[in-house]
Amino acid sequence: MKLNIKGITIFVEDYYLSMSKKSAEIVSHQIANKPNSVLGLATGSTPEGMYKELIQLYLNKKVNFDNITSFNLDEYYPINKDNKNSYAYYMNSHLFNHVNIDKDKTFIPNGKTENVDKMCKEYDQMIYDVGGIDLQILGIGNNGHIGFNEPDVDFELTTHLVKLDDKTIEANARFFANIDDVPKFAVSMGIQNIMQSKKIILMASGEGKAKIIHDMIFGKVTPNLPASILQLHNNVTILLDKKAAKLIIN
Ligand code: GLP
Repeated sequence: MKLNIKGITIFVEDYYLSMSKKSAEIVSHQIANKPNSVLGLATGSTPEGMYKELIQLYLNKKVNFDNITSFNLDEYYPINKDNKNSYAYYMNSHLFNHVNIDKDKTFIPNGKTENVDKMCKEYDQMIYDVGGIDLQILGIGNNGHIGFNEPDVDFELTTHLVKLDDKTIEANARFFANIDDVPKFAVSMGIQNIMQSKKIILMASGEGKAKIIHDMIFGKVTPNLPASILQLHNNVTILLDKKAAKLIIN
């Protein structure tokens, strides 16, 4: 089912698998149209299926990552890139190790740097220098965060250090042996980095995301629900499974 609500294109797929295939299709079309695209990549459980589909498309010679540059949205801080819970490790194991992307052109905030401010500025500059992000992929946190832009009184614009919400730490504890092992901070692209992307796709699956999806589309734009800012972007596609779309379809 395809909907258009407030100028946002929304695809509602029956299941997580079909949602993943649809998002992989959008990414592969982007690459076919612009082989040297700059992709903004996301982590979390939601895009795992999309990455699996992209690997399949690559093995079937339907997509070529040869000229792709990528920037990940975020990384825990502090964390080593060989830690299994780092997003650097996630990207290698879920995508980069399985396709022909040039790893020298894949960028993830450095979770181990001693000079976070400098690293953030350099990250923004690198995005700027390649001409910005063509297609940004997003998931959404239960509290409405995108990347690790947590609910706040202001929007943080550029790449920055974030103190993680207790809710986020709780939600992400499932990946760690113990909740105390979840890093308390992260480095995340800011709202301006995301909003300057030429196209954005946001994915959500499962009933647990139904309310936040409803609110981000129908609620007012507020830094208290960071994903609500996407209402103001002119090229956003939201991909949902039926459960996540529960409160926006009748
Ligand atoms: C994580 C990431 C986000 C992600 C979100 C939802 O903490 N920083 O980029 O979109 O939380 O994760 P999941 O897809 O596992 O629900």
